[in-house]
Amino acid sequence: MSKDLAQQTALITGATAGIGRATALALAARGTDIIVHGRNKERAADTLRQIEALGATARFEPADLSDPAEVNALAERTGDVDILINNAGIFHFARTADTDPATFDAHIAINLRAPYLLVQALAPGMTQRGYGAIINISSGAAATPGHGSGIYGATKAGLESLTRVWAAEYGPDGVRVNAVAVGPTRTEGTAGYGDAFESAGQNVALKRLANPDEIAGAVAFMASPDASYVNGATLSAMGGHPALG
Ligand SMILES: NC(=O)c1ccc[n+]([C@@H]2O[C@H](COP(=O)([O-])OP(=O)(O)OC[C@H]3O[C@@H](n4cnc5c(N)ncnc54)[C@H](OP(=O)(O)O)[C@@H]3O)[C@@H](O)[C@H]2O)c1
Repeated sequence: MSKDLAQQTALITGATAGIGRATALALAARGTDIIVHGRNKERAADTLRQIEALGATARFEPADLSDPAEVNALAERTGDVDILINNAGIFHFARTADTDPATFDAHIAINLRAPYLLVQALAPGMTQRGYGAIINISSGAAATPGHGSGIYGATKAGLESLTRVWAAEYGPDGVRVNAVAVGPTRTEGTAGYGDAFESAGQNVALKRLANPDEIAGAVAFMASPDASYVNGATLSAMGGHPALG
């Protein structure tokens, strides 16, 4: 594995599980120092052990992203980072009639406001250094919402819109901002969805669910020098869904 991301530091939100943890391992394998964010200490310790086994360095910075004060404190503690992966997210599916204000607010706070505050706090340091890569983890639900994915898909559509805004705002100073739109992936967060989720794999052209490391490969590409002229883009890592309209 090329160490093309050595000498760089990455903050990965939600790196204690699923796609975030796989992304932490993919970047660590390329030589990146990793700041593992999440809340669960046991899962964090497990992620740190796996990163250190790859010969990379890492530390854990906990924060509840639903609290803006904790998000800002997280940014202060992390300091200068070269790569920011806005991965942490929640997905509670319900039709509009069954979505209560607390569920609505939690999606906005964690999926949209937390990335916004982290970019506000961390992008200026990147622009001063003239280098940085920010990747926002989106979903197929941004472009093609399904029944029950209303507020979730709306936050991801908002995140893709902000991706283009930030690409324009920070691009002139050498900071690239992109998104990766993810298809149905086996993670801790989707483990409870059972048969309905298993069948979601049949709706994509590859006829299967993704494993987290397959998504992490796409994210690592967007963070790497191989994507040096990619800015303001949303990369589809959705197994070819929808391949046809
Ligand atoms: N899996 C899929 O099929 C799929 C499809 C499309 C898009 N995505 C997107 O991919 C991203 C990761 O999904 P995943 O399936 O890997 O999720 P997951 O397995 O549920 O893991 C979620 C991660 O986010 C963290 N997190 C959640 N709420 C948090 C909060 N309030 N404060 C701080 N951290 C919080 C969790 O940390 P702790 O456990 O330590 O609290 C955990 O590390 C999300 O943005 C999701 O929308 C996933």
